[in-house]
Amino acid sequence: GVELGKLLAQTGYITYDPGFVNTGSASSAITYIDGDAGILRYRGYPIEQLAQRSNFIEVSYLLIYGELPTPQQLEDFTSKINRHTLLHEDLKRFFDGFPRDAHPMPVLSSAVSALSTFYQDSLDPADRSNVELSTIRLLAKVPTIAAYAYKKSIGQPFLYPDNSLGLIENFLRMTFGLPAEPYEIDPAMAKALDLLFILHADHEQNCSTSTVRLVGSSEANLFASISAGIMALFGPLHGGANSAVLEMLEGIKADGGDVDKFVNRVKNKEAGVRLMGFGHRVYKNYDPRAKIIKETADEILSKIAGGDQLLDIAKRLEERALSDDYFVERKLYPNVDFYTGLIYRAMGFPTKYFTVLFALGRLPGWIAHWREMMQDPATKIGRPRQIYTGEKQRDYKPLSER
Ligand code: ACO
Repeated sequence: GVELGKLLAQTGYITYDPGFVNTGSASSAITYIDGDAGILRYRGYPIEQLAQRSNFIEVSYLLIYGELPTPQQLEDFTSKINRHTLLHEDLKRFFDGFPRDAHPMPVLSSAVSALSTFYQDSLDPADRSNVELSTIRLLAKVPTIAAYAYKKSIGQPFLYPDNSLGLIENFLRMTFGLPAEPYEIDPAMAKALDLLFILHADHEQNCSTSTVRLVGSSEANLFASISAGIMALFGPLHGGANSAVLEMLEGIKADGGDVDKFVNRVKNKEAGVRLMGFGHRVYKNYDPRAKIIKETADEILSKIAGGDQLLDIAKRLEERALSDDYFVERKLYPNVDFYTGLIYRAMGFPTKYFTVLFALGRLPGWIAHWREMMQDPATKIGRPRQIYTGEKQRDYKPLSER
């Protein structure tokens, strides 16, 4: 495939592939997906095993460095991240400039982009030690930035990180805690969030990861590339789907819980009406991540919130869709986001914030891809071609003759 690609490039032949449905943009050793069989593996390890037996920090290490860490490597990695969780006091002032009702995704992206102004050692992508430091800084600081984006939106003071806590626990405390009150971490909630982050940690050449790679291919630094990836994830067809699912379920609830009526609107292709959380470019089978989440959603929701009416609507909707020819013929199954919003809501996160949680989970995957691309001697600046459909050559007319 690689040789054929090179040969075609020499002939000037252009492949027309809108949406890159059939274009391999990179060779990668990070994540394996078999969409027909519903298989997902990180560095060869099945997602089911990682979900059950690993944790997010370990999975982050695995994705970025290629192997599961030894106990010593894990300890070093964790303590390095703990040392970098603080934000520069001047960066904290950025949050004052955003409107209080700002969507947290652009806030997150702007703050991550600004990291390259505070850490100018990141600007030389060829310097590996700086890449290493940028990696740790991102893993450590993005949860702090995300927590502050939330605090800003509700007008509460920012909490400094408490580095005696784990990454997830620290993030929960900075998000939901108050300075004068002790914050008791709910272990079920921390475990559930850790699981969701593992499931979101990488998914090969999706829209945001491809964006990180494309921006990085110009040798833009890690902060700049990931800031762009966050904005790609913002869209409702990608990371924004988890919020959209909840809005859809709320809409069905407000309409008396009539699942049939909603499914008919989808089938009639009413403008803007899709079954959110269903369908995937690669999976033409049940998304294995959705399967894991569905299995745990009941358990998690009963532990956290004592059940949820919307979960019942979601289950009925799924059952209805999976037995309908429209969805069967198009191989539309629930994707990772069908159930995640319900869990995030039960944890107390507002709907707007769900996509930020997706970004926190996806961060190690973005970093792993950027680093893999930079180390690959075959990497070139990303520069697709086009099929020109505009006017043939014509002559300029002065304004008075038009
Ligand atoms: N509801 C209803 N119909 C759908 C849906 C859906 N969710 N998804 C696809 N279809 C239909 C399309 O209308 C099309 O039918 P047609 O041929 O009759 O026109 C057919 O299925 C193929 O759809 P495409 O849009 O060509 O599929 P594509 O691979 O481009 O899109 C996508 C994939 C964007 C995920 C799509 O399925 C979708 O919009 N889903 C809802 C949003 C969503 O859940 N996004 C999360 C994706 S996963 C993630 O980012 C974590």
